[in-house]
This record gives sequence, C-alpha cells and structure tokens, in this order.
Amino acid sequence: MPSMYEIYQSHADQYDELIAHEDPDGNLRAALCELLDFEGADVIEFGAGTGRLTELYAERAGSIRCFDRSADMRRRAAVRLEAYSEKMSYELMDHAAPEASRIAAPRADIVLEGWAFGHTVFDDGGNVAASTARLVDLCKAVTRSGGSIAFIETLGTNVDRPAPPGEILNAFYQELEGHHGFEKTVVPTPYRFPDMDTALKTMGFFFGPPMAETVRARGTTEVPEFTGIWSLKV
Ligand SMILES: C[S@@+](CC[C@H](N)C(=O)[O-])C[C@H]1O[C@@H](n2cnc3c(N)ncnc32)[C@H](O)[C@@H]1O
Repeated sequence: MPSMYEIYQSHADQYDELIAHEDPDGNLRAALCELLDFEGADVIEFGAGTGRLTELYAERAGSIRCFDRSADMRRRAAVRLEAYSEKMSYELMDHAAPEASRIAAPRADIVLEGWAFGHTVFDDGGNVAASTARLVDLCKAVTRSGGSIAFIETLGTNVDRPAPPGEILNAFYQELEGHHGFEKTVVPTPYRFPDMDTALKTMGFFFGPPMAETVRARGTTEVPEFTGIWSLKV
C-alpha cells in the first residue's frame, strides 16, 4: 500500500476517487464562501493538489495562483480546472523549502491551504510552534493588507465528534488559535459511498487498513468526518 506522499506523487487519480465521495452536500463550499469574499479576489493556494478546493471558489475569483510540489496532482488539477485556465497559474514548489519565502509579488487578497500544512508540521517533527510560525509568516508575506488567510485541516475521519487527530495537529491548531489569532469554524464533511465494498476499498487505499476496519465496524456507507477552517484577517 502506498504512503500518503506516494499517493500525492504518483496516484493523483485514486486520490481524486476518494475525495469525489467527500462532502456530498457541499458544506465546505458554503462555509468557505460565507467566511471569505472570493468575488473578483486574487487568490494564492498552497498544497492545491488536484484542485478540489480551488474548484469551490474558482468561478468567483479574479485570479488564482496554485502551488504544490507534485506534478501528478498538478496534471489532474489542470483537467479539473480547465474552464478557469485563463485566470489560473500552477507552480511546482515545496512550501517548506527556504525559497518558498521568496515567492514573487503580487500579493493576494485571499491566501489559503487545504490539508497540506498539517503534513508539513508533521514532517518538521517536533517544534510545532516554530513550524506554525513559519507557515503563518509565509502566508502573511503574500497577503495584501485587509486580506484574509485560511487554513483548512482535519478534525477527524470516522469519528462522532470533531477533535484534532493526534498531539501534533492538536498543538498546531492550538498555536493557530492561541498564538496567531485564527478563528476556528467546524464543518461536517462526511464521505458517502454507494456500497460498503467501495467504502472499504477507497478509505483503505488512502488511510490504510486500520481505517478500513473501523469503517467496517461502523457498518454504514456514510463515514462521518469533520473539517476545520482556521481564518485570520490580515
Ligand atoms: C491531502 S492533499 C490536499 C490537496 C488539496 N488541497 C485538496 O483539497 O484536495 C495534500 C497536498 O499537499 C501537497 N504537499 C504536501 N506537502 C507539501 C510541501 N511541503 N510543499 C508543497 N506541497 C506539499 C501534496 O503534494 C498534496 O497535493
């Protein structure tokens, strides 16, 4: 079974198969568009992946600059976002590398990321306060005065209540709220599958066999999940 990073590197199509079943009622789009005014906005998105988040606001945005380090995710995003190609650019970049702090102007009205910075805080392996500060600074450096930053991260999959899964993400979210002044919004984003076989195969491929086992044990084809949006006015 490939690791999550191997999936991002070489299995973008299967990643998309998973997220095609997520948030079927569009709760995330509704919450995002209530928190952030995308109308005509210049947007920068880190860890844009296959463009699932981008698609939620692309029609309204004025321009969109996506960053990610995976060429396979970018290939898939180009297909998904073809209708918006005239207002989009997609750059391959590691947002944890030193050169990320030298992203060229222009600044954006909205800077956001989805499920990517949490990985980076993990990769940094320990000093969560320093990793969080670096990621917040990276975003502030490219946000116009009066603009907004939003981080979208997990609050648990196949759980009954929203909670940070694990100590590192808990510390990351505490830093965002307690130290950097971000406000949290909780959004239910369940997965809905047509049958149990598809649920087990799809969830197991991305999250691993233990997740597939807990999905089987729950015994329903709707798998609850919660997502947090941490937002900040700059
Ligand atoms: C869980 S996926 C999320 C993709 C997309 N935001 C979405 O909503 O589906 C995580 C993405 O972050 C990217 N990523 C993780 N660490 C990164 C890093 N240090 N620099 C650039 N991209 C990174 C991966 O390549 C992957 O596309």
